[in-house]
Amino acid sequence: MKAVVTGGAGFIGSALVRHLLSEGVDSIVAFDNLNSGHAKNLDGLGDRVQLVEGDIRDYDAVVAAIAGADFVFHLAAIPSVPRSIKEPIPSHDVNINGSFNVFRAAQACGVKRVVYAASSSAYGDTEVLPKVETMQANPRSPYAAQKLMGEYYASVFSSCFGLETVSLRFFNVFGPRQDPGSAYSGVLSLFMKSLITGQAPTIFGDGGQSRDFTYVEDVAALVWKAARAEGVSGKVFNAGNGNRYTLNQTWELLQKITGVSLEAQYGPAREGDVRDSQADTTLAKLELGHDPKFTFEEGLRRTFDWYRQSLA
Ligand code: UD1
Repeated sequence: MKAVVTGGAGFIGSALVRHLLSEGVDSIVAFDNLNSGHAKNLDGLGDRVQLVEGDIRDYDAVVAAIAGADFVFHLAAIPSVPRSIKEPIPSHDVNINGSFNVFRAAQACGVKRVVYAASSSAYGDTEVLPKVETMQANPRSPYAAQKLMGEYYASVFSSCFGLETVSLRFFNVFGPRQDPGSAYSGVLSLFMKSLITGQAPTIFGDGGQSRDFTYVEDVAALVWKAARAEGVSGKVFNAGNGNRYTLNQTWELLQKITGVSLEAQYGPAREGDVRDSQADTTLAKLELGHDPKFTFEEGLRRTFDWYRQSLA
């Protein structure tokens, strides 16, 4: 069995590659342009994993990587809400045109199913929590709109072109290998770096905004389940933990877990920011067998251990 993971050298992609190895997938191609991914994320994984450097905007390169694959996991993207506001053109090009290429190539190559990494940002601000798949999407940023367009394409490729697809709306994934190296990095990777360097983190806004932080191994396990579930082609599912924590609570909890005491600084709220995010996980549990194993605290402990070893 062959699987292709676009964005396979990234933080979530490389965790998925590890999960697929543990599930016995024979051959895995990590297709990545190394823009935000790193070859070292795949170090030591052995000869069942091949890193192919390429860009999803290059259709021929995508076809060459996908040829002969049973499953495609499409995770490659330019992430970040604020980056998509500051530089909307590259994120549009990669997240929409690149995704279209991946679906088109997967169909041309006769792939069994594509699992697409959609985003919880598609919901925007909803009056009710948790957020359920049946709610009207209300994107508040280019990134959210782009990820939503990817879902629409996924379902249209299923209904019009006979390609099996499943979209999973990832909810603020965190864990080992999330890169804290950019101003656009995920907040928990930046919090981890603060704990290790002793430099105060900056919280944008009042810190009362909340997120359903989801541990990366739970997401990887769900992605693999989504590749095999019956009767789900063309559908969209939440990929979350089902809880939510404010940033203030999160920083408090991290200080308690690690024994580090550091006062956070506060800056202006971020444009395009969603206030609260929490997944209703009912549908994913029912139809995909979603079964998250990691509490937020356990995920934070594991993540901190990894950063302590790799950043120290
Ligand atoms: C959004 C999506 C998420 C997606 C991600 C991709 C939502 C609810 N979530 O994440 O599913 O995977 O885009 O990039 O839309 N913050 C700080 N200080 C910092 C950095 C961030 O306070 O140094 C705050 C942000 O303002 C935000 C929260 O932390 O309120 C989380 O930010 P971030 O980690 O960037 O993710 P989202 O934008 O929530």
